Amino acid sequence: MHNEQATCDHLAELLGQITTHLEKFQRFEHPDAVENIDSWTSALSGPVPEKGIGAEQVIAEMGEHVIPNGSQISKPGCTSYITSAATDMGSIATLAGIVASPQRISVTAFNHLEGVALQWLAEMFGLPSNMQGVFSSGGSTANLIGLGAARQSAFQQIGKDVAADGVQRVCRVYATEQSHHTIHRSVAVLGMGRNAMVNIPLDDNMRMSADALRKQLLIDKALDALPVAIVVNAGSTNTGAIDPLQEIGEIAREHNIWFHIDGAYGLPGTLDPQVEDLYKGLALADSITVDAHKWLGAPVGIGATFVRDDKALRNTFTQGEADYIEATIVDDADVENSMDSVGFPYHDLGVELSAPTRGAIVWALIREIGVDGMRARICRHNEMARQVAEQAKHHPNLELALEPTLSICCFRYVHEKADDLNGLNKQIHRQLMKHGVNIPSTTMVGDKFVIRPCFLGARTDWHHADDLVNEVIKIGDALIADVR
Ligand SMILES: Cc1ncc(COP(=O)(O)O)c(C=O)c1O
Repeated sequence: MHNEQATCDHLAELLGQITTHLEKFQRFEHPDAVENIDSWTSALSGPVPEKGIGAEQVIAEMGEHVIPNGSQISKPGCTSYITSAATDMGSIATLAGIVASPQRISVTAFNHLEGVALQWLAEMFGLPSNMQGVFSSGGSTANLIGLGAARQSAFQQIGKDVAADGVQRVCRVYATEQSHHTIHRSVAVLGMGRNAMVNIPLDDNMRMSADALRKQLLIDKALDALPVAIVVNAGSTNTGAIDPLQEIGEIAREHNIWFHIDGAYGLPGTLDPQVEDLYKGLALADSITVDAHKWLGAPVGIGATFVRDDKALRNTFTQGEADYIEATIVDDADVENSMDSVGFPYHDLGVELSAPTRGAIVWALIREIGVDGMRARICRHNEMARQVAEQAKHHPNLELALEPTLSICCFRYVHEKADDLNGLNKQIHRQLMKHGVNIPSTTMVGDKFVIRPCFLGARTDWHHADDLVNEVIKIGDALIADVR
């Protein structure tokens, strides 16, 4: 008996119903999900239902129990994670892709827009025009893809095809302790092992020390290890520091080592004229990553990798032959496909075959506000971090831990009556979290535990910087008054 009751032709009507709940959520007046945890976990748990309740009831349950207990990340005052909520266009373009192009593959406007969006990102951020781009699920995968190509290229130079034969040599990947932990994981996943990571010391501004890198490379020359990549940050996650790209890139060239720039968070910073000079070494990169789901206002699930040597990329990730789509390898990693409708085969440049259309979303975001709009957002957020820094320098009970480079400012509350400043700032942070309006994260700058807002969301506006600073001072003052 046919008992399939999923609705497939009432989208507009059902969207109308869900939109009411989403609009309410976006007023951000609901309490933090943790506060009602017992109520929604019990409403949303239970055994698998034998019978369905129908689409309208599911939407009603979403409206009552799911959406109001969603993520804090969507809030305009949330400055903790380096992802943000999608703008309206990000949500709408996602829906358009889901409905009209469930896959990025095949000759469609969506497959075409993968390429257009990659080209626009490259133009907008001043990347070399000959780099091959590919979208993936975010910075973790984007870094994996870049480092996969790096590994392929390094082994190619010693006459080995690592994609075919595996890692048969001890490898070295150079980075700092400020590199994102997804770099270490990528190196492990790529079979080189986390111990392949070589930690290069930082300078006083928490950037890779070029001198220390030079010294390490000299020492390692005596070893029988294969240098695979030098990895730098164009905007570190902890502090927003940008490693000296030009200087490190030149060292990488001199030693013939792949130069990978992790710009997952910070690459868009190049649009800010006040810091664009820091991005000069971009032209030396062999691979660069950027996340659209960070500063650009895309929904989560969109990162991009750009690679200079597209053969190395293809040789690493090509899917190979497949009978069911009659794919045949014709030359090196080039694949001929008898279905002339695959469009550009992005699945040969990364780790996903089935994948959503991400380019159309990035295209729509840029089409809506242009490079000017993106620049305005980036400049606003960087300026907000500078404003917080100024306040921290001048207020008697605040201290700036590090001059901001981009939209992250590391500062802390100080008071002569406090003998454990790290503990005090941890308490301040916990109260901010509990209140749930201004929600920064924390980090360490040296041995200082600091408050760390990262201004990034499209909804995060000028007053959110002041609001945060004022709340930190208020909570800090109250805690000190209690000590007395
Ligand atoms: C510099 C950097 N690289 C990589 C990542 C990982 O990105 P994702 O969370 O999109 O996987 C992050 C995340 O914040 C990041 O800041």
